[in-house]
Amino acid sequence: MKPLKIGNIQVKLPIIQGGMGVGISLSGLASAVANAGGIGVISAVAIGMTEPDYMKNFREANKRALRKEIQKARSLTDGVLGVNLMVAVTDYEELLTVALEEKIDVIILGAGLPLKMPKYVTDNGFENIHTKFIPKVSSAKAAKVIFSFWAKNFNHVPDAVVVEGPMAGGHLGFKKDDLKNDVVPLSELVEETVNEISFFEKEFNKEIPVIAGGGIYTGKDMYKIMQHGAKGVKMGSRFVTTNECDASIKFKETYINAKEEDIIIINSPVGLPGRAIRNNFVNQISEGNTKPFKCAWKCLKSCDFRTAPYCIAQALFNAARGNMEEGFAFAGSKAYMAKKIQSVSDVVLELKIDYYKMKYSEYIRNYLGENMISPKINFEELIPTLPRIKLA
Ligand SMILES: Cc1cc2nc3c(=O)[nH]c(=O)nc-3n(C[C@H](O)[C@H](O)[C@H](O)COP(=O)(O)O)c2cc1C
Repeated sequence: MKPLKIGNIQVKLPIIQGGMGVGISLSGLASAVANAGGIGVISAVAIGMTEPDYMKNFREANKRALRKEIQKARSLTDGVLGVNLMVAVTDYEELLTVALEEKIDVIILGAGLPLKMPKYVTDNGFENIHTKFIPKVSSAKAAKVIFSFWAKNFNHVPDAVVVEGPMAGGHLGFKKDDLKNDVVPLSELVEETVNEISFFEKEFNKEIPVIAGGGIYTGKDMYKIMQHGAKGVKMGSRFVTTNECDASIKFKETYINAKEEDIIIINSPVGLPGRAIRNNFVNQISEGNTKPFKCAWKCLKSCDFRTAPYCIAQALFNAARGNMEEGFAFAGSKAYMAKKIQSVSDVVLELKIDYYKMKYSEYIRNYLGENMISPKINFEELIPTLPRIKLA
C-alpha cells in the first residue's frame, strides 16, 4: 500500500474515514483512524446538537462544537485529521472558517458544488493556508465543473478529489430512479475522473489524487478499485462498528443485526436519496407518515421545513444517541457484512491482510500464467493469514 500524498501531507495508510453525521464521527473515531495511519474525519453537519443550547443558539453551538471536537481530536493524535462539511448547510462558510482557523489538515466538501470560498480564504490566499481542499463528487463531469471554476476564479485547484459511487451510505448524489437501474460502476467513475483531472495536474503542475468511495468494505475492495487509478479510498460504514466510533452501541448493533435486504434507499427531506437500514421509523416514513417536529432553524439550504415529513438532522442525531424509535441509521450497501465490534486498529489490520492477499494472489496468477492455472485453485486462500507480520 503506497502512502497517499495530498499536497505536502503524507498519509501512511491510503484511507480516508468518511465523515458521518450527526454525531457519528467526532473526535473519538477521527483520532483513532488518524492514529492508525489514515485520515480521521469529524463530521461537521449539525454538530452543535451535542451542545445544550443548540435549539436557541444553533449557529454558535455548531461553531463551538466543531472547534471543541477538532481541538479534542488534535490532543489525541499527531496523525492526519479532516473535517467533512456539506456545502448544502446554511452555515457552510462559518463552519469552513472554523476548520481553517483550527488548521485542520484536510477538508472534504460534499453535497453541493464548493464554488464559494469564505473571506478567510480570499484574505489569506490558498498558498498561505495549511488546509488541503478535497471536493466529493459523484461524476467526472461534476469534478470538471469544480476544477474549471476554481482554476478560472482562484487560479488554484483542489488538492485531491473523492469520487463516490452509488453504493455509498448516507445521501447519494444520484437520482433515485438511476439507483434502480444498472448503476455506473465505481471503477468507471474513477477512471473517468482520473482522465478529467489529468488535465488540471498538468496545467497546475501538481499531483491530484483521485480517491474512491462508496461500498468499499474490505481490503480486496480497496485493492481492486486502486487498480483503476484510485490513489486511496474513503470508507464510512466499515468504521461504524468500532469501539472508537462516537455513536451509541444501539446504533452499532443495527449494523451487526442488518441483513443485506434491510439496506434500502429512502427519500430524504434534503431532496436526495439516501441509503439506510430499514427499521420502524424508516417503514413509517416510507409509507408516507410524517413526524411533526420543531425546526430550530433551516439548517439545510434545500430543506423546506414546512413540508418536510420529518427532520433529518434530528432523526440522525436521535439514532446516533441510541434512540432508534425516533431515528434511523444511514449505512453503505455493504454494512450488513459487519459481524462484531472491533477496535479501529484491528479493522485496519484486517484491511491490510485482505489487501495483500488479493495483491499477492494476483502476482502468483501472473507468474504462473493463465495456462498453468486450474480454475479450482483459489490463490487468495493459499496465502496464509499472519496477523503478526508487519505489513508496510
Ligand atoms: C452513518 C453515516 C452517516 C453519514 N453522514 C454523512 C454526512 O453527514 N455528510 C456527508 O457528506 N457524508 C456522510 N456520509 C457518507 C460518508 O462520509 C461516506 O462517504 C460513505 O459512508 C462511504 O460509503 P460506505 O459507507 O459504503 O463506505 C455518511 C455515511 C454513513 C454510513
